[in-house]
Formats: sequence, C-alpha cells, structure tokens
Amino acid sequence: MEADRRLPSWAVARFYVTTPIYYVNDAPHIGHAYTTVTADALARWHRMCGDSVHFLTGTDEHGLKVARAAQANGLTPKEQADRTSERYKEVWKSLDVTNDDFIRTTEERHYKATAALMQAAYDNGWIELRPYEGLYCVACEAYYVEAELEDGNLCPIHHRPVEVLSEENYFFKLSEFTERLLSWYQDNPGAVSPESKRNEAIGLIRGGLRDISISRTSIRWGVPVPWDPEHVFYVWYDALINYATAIGYGSDPDTFGLWWPHVHHLIGKDILRFHCVYWPALLMAAGLEPPKRIAVHGYLLVGGEKMSKTSLNQIAPGDLVSDFGVDGYRYHFLRDQTFGPDGDFSYEAMVARYNSDLANNLGNLLARVSTVVERKCSGVGPKPDPASRLGAVAAEVYTQAADAWERIAPSEALEATWRLVREANAALEAAEPWKAEPGPQVDAVLGDCLEVLRLVALLASPALSRASQEIWRRIGLPGEVTEQRLPDAGAWGGYPGGVRVERGAPLFPRIAS
Ligand code: ME8
Ligand code: MG
Repeated sequence: MEADRRLPSWAVARFYVTTPIYYVNDAPHIGHAYTTVTADALARWHRMCGDSVHFLTGTDEHGLKVARAAQANGLTPKEQADRTSERYKEVWKSLDVTNDDFIRTTEERHYKATAALMQAAYDNGWIELRPYEGLYCVACEAYYVEAELEDGNLCPIHHRPVEVLSEENYFFKLSEFTERLLSWYQDNPGAVSPESKRNEAIGLIRGGLRDISISRTSIRWGVPVPWDPEHVFYVWYDALINYATAIGYGSDPDTFGLWWPHVHHLIGKDILRFHCVYWPALLMAAGLEPPKRIAVHGYLLVGGEKMSKTSLNQIAPGDLVSDFGVDGYRYHFLRDQTFGPDGDFSYEAMVARYNSDLANNLGNLLARVSTVVERKCSGVGPKPDPASRLGAVAAEVYTQAADAWERIAPSEALEATWRLVREANAALEAAEPWKAEPGPQVDAVLGDCLEVLRLVALLASPALSRASQEIWRRIGLPGEVTEQRLPDAGAWGGYPGGVRVERGAPLFPRIAS
C-alpha cells in the first residue's frame, strides 16, 4: 500500500510520480511513451482514490549527447532542446497524459535547485577535486572501467566504442556509502521493485562502489558547479536532481517537504544504476531521504532488439494511435506489456488484443446492453440486483484491481477488470434477454450488466482515457468518471436505474487482422 488509506479523513494522502526526463537528442518513441503512459495511469488511479497527486515528466537537455545531436542538426544545443522538448509535450498531449508539470533541465529553477543540492553535498564533505582519465560512452553519458566493457572496448549497452576522456573532475565519494546503501535496502524491502531489479541493485553495491566523476571542464553545455564555475555538472548529476527541483528543493522547503516523502520514480532498467545506487547515495550526501519507491521496468523490444536510433527500429506513438486510437494505444501497452520484464512489441499482438478485449468483449457488452435496453426497456436502464452473483464477482475484481494498481501492475489490474466484462457477457448469453418478453427477468440481467459497465468504466479509466467517459455517458450517468471517488464508487449497486441509455456507434470498431 503506497498511500495509507487508514489516514484520518482530514489528512491528504499524497502520490508524487515521476518518469525519467528524456534526452532531447531524438524524438519520442513507444519506449519513452511506455513509462509515461504507465505513470499517467497511476496518476489517474490515485486521483480517483482521492489522493493528492503530483505527476512530473520532462526533458534532460544537457550533456555531450545533446550537444553533438545539435551540432549534427546544425542547431545550437538550446535550439535542439527547444524543438525536441516541444515534440515530447505534443506526444504526451496526444496520448492524454495528464502530467502536472513538465520540467526542462535548462530552466532557471533547475539551475538553482541543482546548485543548492550539490552545494549541500559539497559542504557535507562528500565531493572533492581529483584528476581523472576514463573511458566514456557518449550515448550513456557515463564512464566505464575496462572490465565492464565488451570485447573491443565497446559499451555494454550501446555496443559502440568508448572514448578516452581526461580532465580534472569533482568526484562524489560514492564508495563511502556502501554500508549506508545496503542498510537502506535492508530496511526498505519495498523501495526498489520488482525483486529481480532490487537484487540487481544490491549486487551492484556489493560488487564494490567506486567514487564517481560528477563534473566536466571540457564542455560548457551543463549546469555550472556553484563553488567552481569553470566546471559544469556531468549531465546525470543535474538530471537526477530534476525530481527535487520540481517540488521546490532549495526554493520552497514546505512544498518540498510535503511531496518528497511520497515520491515514486518509474524508470527503465537501462538507468537502474543511476537511480538505485547513485541517486539514493547523493540524496544521503545532501542530507535528504532516499526515494520512497523506484519501480523498474524492462525494455520494449522490437524484433527482439531494444529500439535505438542506430537500429532504425523506433516506432512513433502517433503511428499506432492513428490505427488504434488513444484508448487502443494505452490499453495495449498497459495490458500486454507487463511492468517489469522485457516484452516484445508486435503489431499483430496489438491487433489481437484490441479485437478480443476492446472490440469483442467490452465493445460488444456495451452494444448488446444498449440495444436490448432500447428494445425491451424503452431505452431506460433498469437497476442492478443488490444480491446479484455478478456483485460478488465485482467485489473480488475491485480488490484485485486496486491491489494491482497499488503494486504498479497495470496488466494485472486490467486483467482482473476484464474478468468482470467476460462474466457479464456470459450472464447475458445465459439469460438471452433479447429473446425474452420484457419483464423483471430481463430488467435484472440488464441492470446488472449496466452496473458492470459502470464499474468497468471506473476501473479501466486509467487506461481508457476517452472510452470510459463515453461508456459513462451512454449508460446515462452524469458528470465525469474522473470525478468519482474510490473505493465508494467502486461498490456494487451504484447504477441508479431509471436513466436513459443511448445506443451509439461501435466504441471499438474491429480492426482487420
Ligand atoms: O536515460 N523500452 O533518457 P532516455 C522501455 N535522460 N522503455 C524505454 C525504452 C524501451 N525500448 N527506451 C526508452 C535517459 N525507454 C536520461 C534519464 S532521468 C533523471 C534521466 C524509457 O531518453 C525508459 O523509461 O534515454 C528509459 O529508462 C528511458 O526511456 C530512457 O530515456
Ligand atoms: Mg537512453
């Protein structure tokens, strides 16, 4: 349980959810959207639970990778960052992403917060100047030691040659945090999930931590080191701090204090080391609490490979939205791509899932119920039966779905929700109200199915940002799905009956496979 539902009613449960801030060297693809849409679904779920939610995403605009991409495009780094951050904003809007803030690391607020947080770590004695020569992967924006490289001095992530960089750097004394990090992991078993990723992080710490270089003099495209402005912070050390900037670190301690204890970072496994090792240590160095939660997911693979600029296998979200709609898009990634392990993206699987769950199961339920209500009940929806068997199923489904959303397992939450859809369809098929004379038996099954539609609109709304509202409206309910409050609205029996049900065009037209 992330937000404590046992809080007294005057207390606000808070949920601060973040995505990585994405590099502006390249356009957003479905891998970036995977993390962002998942964060959005969680934000929507928590808002329905009545939590006070702050949802942050943004762009990471410093570093050599961005500077070089700009150069290749004939732009200044700032122009490159302006253009690409706009593209991110547009894509998030097109996917109905409801972020409360969008941070850009080139903003003044971020320079100030970075300076303040690093100054605190410096003042505490955890940062010092040393000469350094190292093997650097520009794509990772990270130094490696030889043992970590693949044959031929290739970066283990990008399989590209690393470069030798030498300079005088500020170092963060990470090696001195080994014990504190291990005891933090021990005391906070839920802080990093899933278990396999937590073990990976613990393995990295046990494997031995080296002090790390956190500043550069070779480039100007970065946040200046406040006590030595000849240096800029190495991109990762300004990037991680975005999560603190956005809630007022260094400028608004009250706001920071309200949100920081409730932070949930969502990240891909490529940046596990930075978030699960370096970031908690840096926070400790600055005298702050490590994150409450870091949830790590695997890669979306295309044809068995990670998407990358060099493999030319990137898929833009817009290409799929034009075929499946926003709801079809969001549903697929939340339902089919389990949060945690790697998953292969396949267009065929996306079509299959859309047709089975959305067109056939949910779409048919809505179409049948509204058609039969029109024919047999003069278009007025009957009440559900308080003692219906479907009510018992709904109670189980609610518990499972709520638990899965809390655990950041959207695929399980949606799987549970669709059990209710299937059971309602089965109840209809058993009762065959379309063949029966109007009367109490017809009313009973239709009322139950309308109640199922109401509950599914609620439970699926973190995924189906548009269709859930359309179902809500068609079954005659006033207001917005997103204004309903769980758990109360999720209890069986909320459908009032006596309201007009509208028969409309198919909500999810079948897609030819
Ligand atoms: O690493 N599958 O930015 P980035 C799943 N700026 N998720 C993927 C993915 C894939 N194939 N490709 C990308 C950076 N992602 C840094 C982060 S945070 C303080 C700084 C998602 O543009 C996933 O969330 O390379 C991954 O961690 C992130 O995009 C990396 O984005
Ligand atoms: Mg990357």
